[in-house]
Amino acid sequence: MTQHVFDSSMQNRLAIVTGASAGIGYAVVKELVARSCPVICNGRRAANLKDLILEFSAESVATVQGDTADEKVIAAMFDKAHAEFGDGKRHPDLVVINAGRGLKGSVMDSDTTQWEEMVRTNLLGAALVIRHAAQKMLASIEQLKARGKSWLEHPHDIVVIGSTVGRNVSPFSSMYGSTKFGVHGLVEGARRELGPKGIRVTLIEPGFVVSEFQGVAGYDPEWFKGVVEKIGPVLKPEDVARAIIAVITQPPWVHFNDVALRPTRQDYP
Ligand SMILES: NC(=O)c1ccc[n+]([C@@H]2O[C@H](COP(=O)([O-])OP(=O)(O)OC[C@H]3O[C@@H](n4cnc5c(N)ncnc54)[C@H](OP(=O)(O)O)[C@@H]3O)[C@@H](O)[C@H]2O)c1
Repeated sequence: MTQHVFDSSMQNRLAIVTGASAGIGYAVVKELVARSCPVICNGRRAANLKDLILEFSAESVATVQGDTADEKVIAAMFDKAHAEFGDGKRHPDLVVINAGRGLKGSVMDSDTTQWEEMVRTNLLGAALVIRHAAQKMLASIEQLKARGKSWLEHPHDIVVIGSTVGRNVSPFSSMYGSTKFGVHGLVEGARRELGPKGIRVTLIEPGFVVSEFQGVAGYDPEWFKGVVEKIGPVLKPEDVARAIIAVITQPPWVHFNDVALRPTRQDYP
């Protein structure tokens, strides 16, 4: 039987994380830097991105500020990764598509002025980043082949953050949930297209995670307090980050397609 040797450490990998300026994205960056994996961090808030460089150093992280759904911003992330950490030779082999936002309310009572931004960020942005990431990764796999190697010796991962509301219809957050249903379909389609070519496209489906998410979505703090009392402790961003590390450090031929993680006492959604 053929033995495939692969490097399971993260130090020879190169990552992009969108929505790295807070919450789950920040926690993922922290885990990656702790494993000596350089990271390009994206987010809109310049001050938060500056803090990342102060905390982790310019040897470990670089930043690209801007909207994750803007193709110029996306191209800048890949260009910067290639130039700054890939010595003009390597492209990112790990892209974590995390930037996103929630929205309180249903199709009947949520704020329609926020629909467009949410759909653009959660769904269209994710699709554009998947496309850019896959193009670079397919080129990298061709380069490996030209050197007599293969994808079996080096993992390539696109990890997308969905949600448990992307699988369970909730009439109370139906607009947000519908973006995550869309993301789930997108990820499974990309997995079927790209998996056979050696790229793992993984869906991470968290339940309740305490972060800035609740404030941005406009949830009533008293309601969320009630949720925490009923089902807590709820997840922390670092709990989701650890799940992502578990997925991406598997041998390249092993793929956890979908990982749902909830607070233990969360029954629904
Ligand atoms: N918290 C939960 O309960 C939960 C559960 C399931 C899934 N999720 C998903 O997990 C992901 C991360 O959420 P979180 O809990 O970490 O929320 P968070 O603390 O609010 O962080 C969201 C991150 O996304 C960035 N972001 C938002 N819109 C962006 C845009 N247009 N362009 C670039 N960056 C953008 C934010 O940074 P800037 O504001 O600086 O741009 C921030 O860094 C989201 O996709 C969310 O839907 C969250």
